[in-house]
Amino acid sequence: MRTKIPVAGAVLLISAAAVAADGDAKRGASVYRACVACHSLEPNVHLTGPSLAGLWGKKAASIADYPRYSEALKTQEFFWDETTLNAWVADPAAFVKDNSMTFRGIKDDKTRADLIAFLRLAFAPDGAKSVVAKGLLPARMARGQVPESLDRARPEEQVVSVRHCRNSFFVVTANGTERSIWEMNLRLKVDSGPNGPKGGKPVLTQSGMQGDRASLVFSGPAQISTFVQSKC
Ligand code: HEC
Repeated sequence: MRTKIPVAGAVLLISAAAVAADGDAKRGASVYRACVACHSLEPNVHLTGPSLAGLWGKKAASIADYPRYSEALKTQEFFWDETTLNAWVADPAAFVKDNSMTFRGIKDDKTRADLIAFLRLAFAPDGAKSVVAKGLLPARMARGQVPESLDRARPEEQVVSVRHCRNSFFVVTANGTERSIWEMNLRLKVDSGPNGPKGGKPVLTQSGMQGDRASLVFSGPAQISTFVQSKC
């Protein structure tokens, strides 16, 4: 009864290896741009998804300080190589049911082979440095879409006080202006990392095409309740 399983596995292995061998790492680097919103290639830089530094040959969901792996991925026993990466990027939801990577997959075999040729270099030890040095990927893409550093906020971004009244926030900044913002247009965020706001003051950042939306970034959750006053 068991003979069918190794046979099927061997067929999959051979075809995936053959596909990956044809891949072009330079073209694959431009395919990788689809990943940079959520991943960094630098060690210990976790965004929506975990850092992918040194991932080649590692067990699935084994980056120790990434805190948000799904149960579905954590319970997998496989290791990352061209076969598993090929299946994952083709259709993550089909390969590991109920995982939390919201990416619909790359259906084209050639595009995937190019990507995997690039990932082989990028996921090697010191991969971020080497793909940048080889001119395959700009350094900022290797770093991923890390939130901008808030420690040098301009006066019009440094928040002095925040008041909530009826359905509005009134935000006073260090340049002396007060902005009134509809409560649904102001996002309260926390950046507890090294790029987060300094000096105990939150930072106001603009977002959205119309300029009507903004974010208030705090350095930690406790700061939100001490800073935001209910007062009309
Ligand atoms: C919208 C955000 C997002 C995008 C885009 C995205 N990922 Fe992910 N990725 C995640 C998340 C979240 C996880 C963790 C999944 C889980 O725990 O179930 C993950 C996990 C992974 C893992 C497993 C890591 C490990 O430690 O086992 C790999 C490999 C991976 N992604 C590769 C890619 C590649 C390659 C691309 C681009 C083709 C990509 N991802 C695009 C969010 C994303």
